Amino acid sequence: MSEYLMAAARHYRPGLLGRDYVIPQAQGLKGCYLDWFGMPDVRLQVTALYLYQALLDFPFNSLLDVGCGTGTLTNLLAAVHHNSSILGIDRDEQAIAYAKKLADQNHLSNARFQMQDLESEFPAGAYDIITCMAVLQFIHDPEALFQNIYRALSKDGYLMMQVPRLSKTAYLMKSSKAVKRLPEFHEARGAFGDDEIIALLTQSGFEIVRMQPIIKSASILAKEVFYLLLSIHPKLIFVLCPLLNRLTAFDERYAGEGQGLFIIAQKISSAAA
Ligand SMILES: C[S@@+](CC[C@H](N)C(=O)[O-])C[C@H]1O[C@@H](n2cnc3c(N)ncnc32)[C@H](O)[C@@H]1O
Repeated sequence: MSEYLMAAARHYRPGLLGRDYVIPQAQGLKGCYLDWFGMPDVRLQVTALYLYQALLDFPFNSLLDVGCGTGTLTNLLAAVHHNSSILGIDRDEQAIAYAKKLADQNHLSNARFQMQDLESEFPAGAYDIITCMAVLQFIHDPEALFQNIYRALSKDGYLMMQVPRLSKTAYLMKSSKAVKRLPEFHEARGAFGDDEIIALLTQSGFEIVRMQPIIKSASILAKEVFYLLLSIHPKLIFVLCPLLNRLTAFDERYAGEGQGLFIIAQKISSAAA
């Protein structure tokens, strides 16, 4: 793992998701590009910003990342919290294989990954923190998922998640053909209303500790431009993402409505889920 990651400052910057997060590890100009500007993925950058900073305030020994995908965030957390044990699960075999390679490449022996469908089997355990980033929109029965998460958390453990939020701000994506060209948008259900999420969590025995609108103003524009470019040609995003990613690093300082929600909820141990 590179030194600059170990010396990670308290404040997230896009370059933290740098050369170590591609297979094989990037060298030369590509490596410099990634270290300076970060991986060209606007949604991932915003998610990383909130998760990375939130976890610095919530010390933990064990963390389960449900729906970890290719393990970019999971491995970042394993690198920063190297004394903690981290397990990532996802139903996608290729994504899990990639996540494992990333962990090996960066010598992250505290990160493990396994292929598992959360809706048919949920890992047993007593995790201090469970993260669920950009996954709930793919789940058919969110209530059942929250109950499983409740059971797998330690006493007073925390659930941290990112969900798409009902908002009027998806200007470009709403009207464009880009949505049709990006297959991952088809599988997901629509966004969640704030009341819906609050009800789901409280019914499942959680108390909401923090609920922040995310992907606001300039980040909305960045995200929309990112998906539009992606739908035209994936290489285009390398040209504009240095700028777009920088906009996302200030997301929490922008005011106004967000296209997403970042939520921290605590398990109330007396509640029966
Ligand atoms: C948008 S990606 C988010 C990946 C990662 N959490 C992140 O923030 O970059 C959603 C992930 O959820 C996973 N997923 C969806 N439904 C799942 C299920 N039932 N069981 C396990 N993984 C699931 C998908 O395979 C995909 O990798």
